[in-house]
Amino acid sequence: MKSRIAIYPGSFDPITNGHMDIIHRGLEIFDRVIIAVARNSEKNSLFTVQERLALINKLVDDNQQLEVDTFDGLLVDYVVEREASVILRGLRAVSDFEYEFQLAQMNRSISQQVETLFMMTSPQNAYLSSSIIKEVASHCGDIDKFVPPIVAEELRKKFA
Ligand code: COA
Repeated sequence: MKSRIAIYPGSFDPITNGHMDIIHRGLEIFDRVIIAVARNSEKNSLFTVQERLALINKLVDDNQQLEVDTFDGLLVDYVVEREASVILRGLRAVSDFEYEFQLAQMNRSISQQVETLFMMTSPQNAYLSSSIIKEVASHCGDIDKFVPPIVAEELRKKFA
């Protein structure tokens, strides 16, 4: 039987509890989830791609259903290359909708084989973003509620 593989793409700069929640819920639906860190994101990043990968790999640990990878270029090409057919994305608020709608429509028009599945972010994570957490960390605010402990530790080191 063909296994159901989802690609969970993003910048993950850094990965937050919001991302972890989507990953764990995704595992209830898919046989495998590939967490794909975008290399060519236009965002100014705090963590290098290698640092982000290392953090995510530690969090994934030895879960055989999860894989951590990076990709360049178009997401749809990567999805097809990995023999997946679903892009998994979290939706936080109405403000996410427009961008996500555009992205999903564009991806679908490039490749008809690729479907995007949205999951509503859990209420406790609805206001989170990597940027806002970095801002709180830069002012020495308490970030322990928003990111896994190893991420909090690395954020504190970055702003020490
Ligand atoms: N809970 C809390 N926060 C969440 C979240 C969740 N469940 N899901 C996402 N976020 C936050 C992230 O932390 C991030 O915050 P930031 O903007 O402060 O960094 C924000 O929501 C959105 O980030 P992310 O989900 O990582 O997506 P992105 O917009 O950075 O990246 C790509 C989107 C990588 C999927 C997209 O740019 C892409 O596909 N790039 C490849 C090129 C391509 O194919 N382009 C599309 C052509 S149509």
